[in-house]
Amino acid sequence: QIETRQTITLQRPPKRSKQIHIVCGQAMNVKRDQQYTSPPSLLTETIPIIDLSDPNDELVTHKLVKASEEWGVFQVVNHGIPVYLMQQLRELGRQFFELPESEKESVTRPADSQDIEGYFTKNPKHLKAWNDHLIHNLWPPSSINYRYWPKNPVDYRKVTEEYTRNVTKLTDKILGYLSKGLGLRREALKEGLGGDKILYLMRINYYPPSDSVIGAPAHADLCALTLIISNEVPGLQVFKGDHWFDVEYISSAIVVLISDQIMRMSNGRYKSVLHRSVMNKEKTRMSWPVLIEPDHDLVVGPLPDLTGEENPPKFESLAFEDYVHRKLNKLLRD
Ligand code: SIN
Ligand code: FE2
Repeated sequence: QIETRQTITLQRPPKRSKQIHIVCGQAMNVKRDQQYTSPPSLLTETIPIIDLSDPNDELVTHKLVKASEEWGVFQVVNHGIPVYLMQQLRELGRQFFELPESEKESVTRPADSQDIEGYFTKNPKHLKAWNDHLIHNLWPPSSINYRYWPKNPVDYRKVTEEYTRNVTKLTDKILGYLSKGLGLRREALKEGLGGDKILYLMRINYYPPSDSVIGAPAHADLCALTLIISNEVPGLQVFKGDHWFDVEYISSAIVVLISDQIMRMSNGRYKSVLHRSVMNKEKTRMSWPVLIEPDHDLVVGPLPDLTGEENPPKFESLAFEDYVHRKLNKLLRD
């Protein structure tokens, strides 16, 4: 049993501003000069931590479902991804980001590129609130462009491929539990997302020490599910009820965010979680979210087995691509 204590800051989500930054299936409002000055207080409620090695399948399903309904976020431990592999991934990512800028140029996203893949270093003139990052597809093989995978450090590809094999397995397991929790076959959510065409993207975030407070402004991910590890510097926060909660750093845990498409497929039973990342004044924070997206042409909406006369669909079924455009346009308008 891992003991957790979490602090909250009494703040509402930032109001939307006109400035929007689109990255990797995420949409976020970039608002500067956020002030988060309320004194932290202790809270008894904590973000659920779920042991996936528990042989009681029913109990694990129940815990995952409850966490997805109430929080839209949970941490999993004993999830099957070797901890040494998570450490290697962290170490290689750190080595890459600490290379001189000139060394990172080979994977830099070209300025005129329509792709979201590549290394991106912030332009302080117009992106004060955002961070350096590297994005590249992980899976399926047909989506991979190794041009955007660092060659230095040399083990980057080998370790990232091994991590991908593990992450796809863990995703299947989590989708299985979430499907069971809806009273469906284990494969239901995976199939509804496109099965073998589900896209996995790696995004590595690098937030250098900073006095500005917000690294990633409040947003819910557009994708289906997001699996995150970070370095030892905490900073991820999630919104529930009326409060922001710190996500505790547990070196061996994977943070799982329920994102928009799982919320929509479950007809609102599972909740897409609003989250943000805050900066540290002294230390560099890094995080490695893997974004799990439906096949882009696939129409995604409430699963037919979950709707009927008594349960009308709460969301319109839309091709994932159209959903993304609509949400981004709406954010721009508001
Ligand atoms: C994000 O995925 O939106 C931020 C994740 C993080 O930095 O922990
Ligand atoms: Fe996010």
